[in-house]
Amino acid sequence: MNDSKSDFKSALSENAAEVTKMLDNLLPVIDTPEARVIEAMRYSSLEGGKRVRPFLVTQSAALFGVDRVSALRAAAAVEMVHCYSLVHDDLPAMDDDDLRRGQPTCHIKYDEATAILAGDALLTMAFQVLADPATHSDPSVRSDLVLALSKAAGAHGMVGGQMMDLWAEDNELNVAQITRLQRMKTGELIAVSAEAGAILGKASEDARAALHAYAHDIGLAFQIADDLLDVEGDAATVGKATGKDAGAGKATFVSLLGIEKARQQADMLSEQAAAHLEIFGEKGDLLKQMARFIVERRT
Ligand code: IPE
Ligand code: IPE
Ligand code: MG
Ligand code: MG
Ligand code: MG
Repeated sequence: MNDSKSDFKSALSENAAEVTKMLDNLLPVIDTPEARVIEAMRYSSLEGGKRVRPFLVTQSAALFGVDRVSALRAAAAVEMVHCYSLVHDDLPAMDDDDLRRGQPTCHIKYDEATAILAGDALLTMAFQVLADPATHSDPSVRSDLVLALSKAAGAHGMVGGQMMDLWAEDNELNVAQITRLQRMKTGELIAVSAEAGAILGKASEDARAALHAYAHDIGLAFQIADDLLDVEGDAATVGKATGKDAGAGKATFVSLLGIEKARQQADMLSEQAAAHLEIFGEKGDLLKQMARFIVERRT
């Protein structure tokens, strides 16, 4: 491994450890009758995960000299929304999966009702964290974060994408429709992760637009890579069942374009994403490497 690659890997894992610690602090164990939902929230958010979105938050925040605690709180909030989306995505009514991050899914470990509640509570907790003055002293920054994350997660973002994903099981989609589906389902949360640092750092319009363009491209590349792993990966490595998309008749870039072209598309998007970061010079290096990591990853 060359030096810059190993620097990236250690930055990613150090950041992951700090985010996990923040999540742990934000979700203290309790001893009252509702403890089970907290346990399920902790189970679904503390162990495993690449922590790609939190890394995007903290790295984009670092570009603008944002206070580390602020960045980590925003990173934890985004990860809470992501973990909630995974808990609900795995439910029998959706993808009906038993394995997540190498462990039984939340509804298998606990039960369906608890998994639904744990997802609900992770989602709402994310906004509680963002709205808390501990995240930023300026209320307009906090409300901008809440607005951006709620848009990305809601019916015109991730939830809308998940709805289309289900609709696509019984409908033929073209490339334009799949692109829209993926951008909503996965891209929006990735985009808001990269933009969160710019919001926290009150960045210029130019800087914010550059991060937006970067995130737009990696968001799509990320889901193409996920779809490739579903075809090419094995559950032991990936940590979740594979071969599910074709079985469920899901519309993906791989189902439409084939493996080769889907990979080319992901690579092209990754390069394009990195190019958007030129305005940050060397300070953007780790984010550029993240663009490569996203398409080269094996999990
Ligand atoms: C999986 O996301 C779900 C998608 C949006 C494709 P990740 O691949 O980021 O999952 P974790 O967080 O590393 O487990
Ligand atoms: C889910 O996409 C994206 C979410 C919004 C959770 P997938 O259904 O492809 O994610 P995996 O493969 O189960 O992680
Ligand atoms: Mg799904
Ligand atoms: Mg799934
Ligand atoms: Mg998938």
